[in-house]
Amino acid sequence: MMDRKIISGFSKLDRKQKIQWLVDQYHLDQATIKFLDSFQLADEKTQEIIADLSENQLSNYHLPFTVAPNFLVDGKLKTFPLVTEESSVVAALAKAAGYWAQRGGFRTEIIGTKKKGQVHFLWKGDHEKLNKFFPEIKQNLLIESAPLTEKMTNRGGGISAVELKYLPEVLPNYYQLDVSFETCDAMGANFINSCLEQFGKTLKIWVVENDQFAEEEKELEIIMAILSNYVPESRVKVWVECPVTKLEADAEKSQLFASKFVQAVHISRNDVSRAVTHNKGIFNGIDALAIATGNDFRAIEAGGHAYAAKDGKYRGLSDAGITDGNFWFSLELPLAVGVVGGVTRLHPLAKLAMQILEQPSAKQLMTYLAISGLASNWAAVRALVTTGIQQGHMKMHLSNILNTLQVSDEQKQAVRLYFEGREVSFSEVQNFLNTHAG
Ligand code: MEV
Repeated sequence: MMDRKIISGFSKLDRKQKIQWLVDQYHLDQATIKFLDSFQLADEKTQEIIADLSENQLSNYHLPFTVAPNFLVDGKLKTFPLVTEESSVVAALAKAAGYWAQRGGFRTEIIGTKKKGQVHFLWKGDHEKLNKFFPEIKQNLLIESAPLTEKMTNRGGGISAVELKYLPEVLPNYYQLDVSFETCDAMGANFINSCLEQFGKTLKIWVVENDQFAEEEKELEIIMAILSNYVPESRVKVWVECPVTKLEADAEKSQLFASKFVQAVHISRNDVSRAVTHNKGIFNGIDALAIATGNDFRAIEAGGHAYAAKDGKYRGLSDAGITDGNFWFSLELPLAVGVVGGVTRLHPLAKLAMQILEQPSAKQLMTYLAISGLASNWAAVRALVTTGIQQGHMKMHLSNILNTLQVSDEQKQAVRLYFEGREVSFSEVQNFLNTHAG
């Protein structure tokens, strides 16, 4: 038996009513109302901007807005704004940035910026016939979508190719219009989707109105029209390199470290269990910068993971090696990001993040995101093949535990001292505090 009723029209309630509904339904303390209010911003205008980012806003959910300085990118020093809930990520990024700034910094190369989308449709006629008419159809599609593409074309972007694909192996009578786009400094999701939906409408009308098509050929069913978050032709490569001997304080240590590091990367490229965790470490850095700049990190992640499996096996995204006494470590991945439109120019902290990055173009932001990924991957793998990951993690973990337990500064100091070199857990810290109270 369901003890709760389905609520209709929830989104139409105002914020206070929604909170009251939640308090009543889940028997929450009345203090919850004040508690949620306490996270609302005093500045009404800014609060409205934040609230309007989503439906059913009750309060704001805070994460630290942080920075990591010392990223030397193609010879220029940059500070990366970062937002993450994982305590060790920013410390690791800052450390990696400082380390590589002393060794030539990060280098970058944009491999492409082409994005794609598809109109998926079914058509029962002879596919050769559709192929034959396709040049005419294509011209029509471009003419009809011109009002949508005009501004983007003036900025140097627009539609760069339209292909017809017949794919009966996927579904009987299934086709795609596979469309390529350049979206300049925008991520371009709205632009691409609007163009594709227009293509769908134009295509359907063209078939219905064309005399060359028999009555039974006039039925064309659009299944959907949507951009693809798989953007292998919008790709960036970033890398670091330095003589092996410069990696550590002495030559022997350097050699050992370099070969262990390269082995670890090799394992990630050939073993799926390790590859997923390795790539997670890469996205720790990418997502933190993507969130800070108001970019869609789910799109970035989805495309990145698909690219990791591009040759039929899921692999680590980065690569490393030793060539002529030089250690190199690189990352190549697809990225579709924007610096205009979307949340980037709306969220006040995303705006500040863009200012800290000195208003990068979309291409520059692609390189920074990939660098953030490479740097966090570097820090993780370096720790793994040397001290182990727990040393750094535990320090941060201990801080979180101490904050959760709300202990005095004096107690914090005693706990930190006691747990140096010891295994940290919530219950162990609690035990220590109980036996050493005061
Ligand atoms: C933790 O967030 C990320 C790592 O597991 C990544 C890795 O193992 O490479 C440390």
